[in-house]
Amino acid sequence: MDVQTQFQLKSFNTLNLNAVVSHYTQVHSQNDLCEALAYAEQHGLNVLILSGGSNMLLPSHIDALAVHMQIQGIEILAEDNTTHTVRVGSGQIWHDFVLWTTEHQMYGLQNLALIPGLVGASPVQNIGAYGVEVGEFIDYVEVYDRIEKKLTRINAQDCHFSYRHSIFKDDPNRYVITHVVFKLLKQPNLKMNYGDLKTAMGDDITAENLQRQVIHIRQSKLPNPNEYPNAGSFFKNPIISQAQYNALSESYPQAPHYPQGNDQVKIAAGWLIDQAGWKGKQLGKVGMFQKQALVLVNYSDADLSDVQATYRAVQQDVVKKFNILLEPEPVLFNEIGLIQSHTT
Ligand code: EPU
Repeated sequence: MDVQTQFQLKSFNTLNLNAVVSHYTQVHSQNDLCEALAYAEQHGLNVLILSGGSNMLLPSHIDALAVHMQIQGIEILAEDNTTHTVRVGSGQIWHDFVLWTTEHQMYGLQNLALIPGLVGASPVQNIGAYGVEVGEFIDYVEVYDRIEKKLTRINAQDCHFSYRHSIFKDDPNRYVITHVVFKLLKQPNLKMNYGDLKTAMGDDITAENLQRQVIHIRQSKLPNPNEYPNAGSFFKNPIISQAQYNALSESYPQAPHYPQGNDQVKIAAGWLIDQAGWKGKQLGKVGMFQKQALVLVNYSDADLSDVQATYRAVQQDVVKKFNILLEPEPVLFNEIGLIQSHTT
């Protein structure tokens, strides 16, 4: 196994943060992974799992073994009257896999086109867009369990998928995802109710057109990470109580909101940030994007402390105006490669 030292991860995280890791290796199979984990144990190193890097906040120096997941492959395992079961390596590029499903008349994931990152990261935060979450189409996830020290599988119902959440977030340093197994539909069941998607579809009510329109909407609002390094939505849309929403709506009846049942209401974080004056505003090297205030952009060679200065200023201004604390969405790593909470 090939281990490189003092390795720069700047081009492997989509925010392009300067981040040098003490040890780095690539993994192309489950065997490689077991070897890498054994190496880390022998050398007393923590393991930092690196996927597409589109949802990570990395400090500038990390003492750990970065394990870069590159397991490839798309395999059709089974079919029945209504579904295809497909096993995908965690290192496949998510968007390319979505395009592949559409080309092969397998339906469900089209609303999730153009989400950055790799397949293995998709269950972690239960990626979602335009009324669909990936958890709806996952059959099971193949993982290496670092506590039990074995390869195993976790069925979708045991993943506890919810809005931008799963057990992989509850227990962040335990599982390494090697494959995701999807159950995809033979007949499309189009979800077109989000925002202006239905209008954008026109008369062409097909999965292919839905995918095309989602790509078009995303390209028109979201910055291309190659041009403006970013990590997608930087904050989760906050969920508040009905009573808190009622109070908010007295002053701001126009606030976009989505009732969740159970006396809870989801509020659009992008709107809150926009109203707090942060749309297109920059603090030092880092700012909130001009066309979508929810996206934080690294405008010039920032490191984690620059990102933290900006997002804390945004949080403060939103708390001051609305008394709502926004929770960052990307995963925060510490100097020894462990995932840590944003609040400690
Ligand atoms: N809004 C503003 N100003 C802004 C941005 C948004 O007023 O600068 C308002 C919009 O007008 C709209 C509302 O906020 O009324 C919601 O905005 P939008 O429909 O653009 O979606 P979002 O809530 O900002 C979420 C996801 C996105 C996903 C879209 C579409 C989260 C945190 N974000 O964004 O996911 O693509 O819906 O489904 O749930 C991601 O997770 O990286 C991501 C891009």
